[in-house]
Amino acid sequence: MNRRFIALGAAALLIAAVIGVLGLRDRSTRTGTVKLGMMLPATGTFAALGTAIDNGFRLYLNEHGGKLAGFDVEIVRVDDESDPSKATANINKLLKRDNVQALIGSVHSGVAMTMAKAAKETNTILVVPNAGADAVTGAMCAPNIFRSSFSNWQPGYAMGEVVAKRGHKNVVTLTWKYAAGDESVGGFKEAFEKAGGKVVKELSLPFPTVEFQALLTELAAIKPDAVYTFFAGAGAVKLVKDYAAAGLKGKIPLYGAGFLTDGTLQAQGSAADGLLTTLHYADGLNTPRDNAFRSAYFKSYKREPDVYAVQGYDAAQMLAVGLAAVKGDLSKKAEFSAALRSAQIDSPRGSFVLSRSHNPVQDIYLREVRGTQNRVIGIASKALADPARGCPM
Ligand code: BEZ
Repeated sequence: MNRRFIALGAAALLIAAVIGVLGLRDRSTRTGTVKLGMMLPATGTFAALGTAIDNGFRLYLNEHGGKLAGFDVEIVRVDDESDPSKATANINKLLKRDNVQALIGSVHSGVAMTMAKAAKETNTILVVPNAGADAVTGAMCAPNIFRSSFSNWQPGYAMGEVVAKRGHKNVVTLTWKYAAGDESVGGFKEAFEKAGGKVVKELSLPFPTVEFQALLTELAAIKPDAVYTFFAGAGAVKLVKDYAAAGLKGKIPLYGAGFLTDGTLQAQGSAADGLLTTLHYADGLNTPRDNAFRSAYFKSYKREPDVYAVQGYDAAQMLAVGLAAVKGDLSKKAEFSAALRSAQIDSPRGSFVLSRSHNPVQDIYLREVRGTQNRVIGIASKALADPARGCPM
């Protein structure tokens, strides 16, 4: 009997040692399948943005035989509803219930900040395919956190310079009151006031409400030279239509971060015609890379891609770069990070590198709405890098 116990004990120790050596405890891939947790909105104000990101990600996968860097991929999806109050529970589902090896998400800045905190605490790779929260690649930056999109500061700062150059002196800002709105306005104000302009009033309403009437009345009474705004998705559709319906369109020029008119033009109709926005993607880039992406996207989804689709596609590309470097072993965080830090990402927007804090250093285009397109009419800011304030890396 004793000898049987000793033999069983020895066998158990041997199995434990083998598991330890193979690194199975830290969820690294040895089966050849990489398990990814994708947290995006499938419902609510930003649902269409989540769908476009997922479409872009799947397009890259389909172009590579369903694999990333030759590794099979399993994706566990969670609808985060763009609700920061549900973010912790949703992340726990992915990390604790499903044991995913890396996280992708999300659209809303508040949700992404909770994801970044969890990624830091658990040392899990995170790729953010939209949310611009400055802190993600600022004060919260980490070797395992990357962004394929933008910081809220970037399009705002570029537009501040544009609006000042167009001779406007007094501007009112109008946005949702949460990180993305505040930081977009922050970037705008920094550049606009540096160039001699003045933000005379900052108007806002809580996310995701869209009752603009009282604010538009106040705006009309102030009579500024121009308005700068951050809205996206269904909120952007409503603002652009309400602005025109209130008779303000021909009177007070409306400028915005490009989310105002990206993926929204079919619904906005003629109310959006002529609007100028700044963003890291545009229609009419007419490069071989973007043309190939656009026709592949159209073939797959029977619709034109937007900035969100590009960011999803590039999130997949970035994961592929990292996975190739670590041969599928996501426990090798330092090697994963080093590969991305030295990579040139061949994006449909134009190729980009990551900054020291892992945010794209990228051209910000000036675009004008013509029909259902955000046509590029220039580069507002060349190779613009987020200042990464508070990032110790
Ligand atoms: C954000 O919350 O960071 C965001 C949402 C939609 C579009 C752009 C930014």
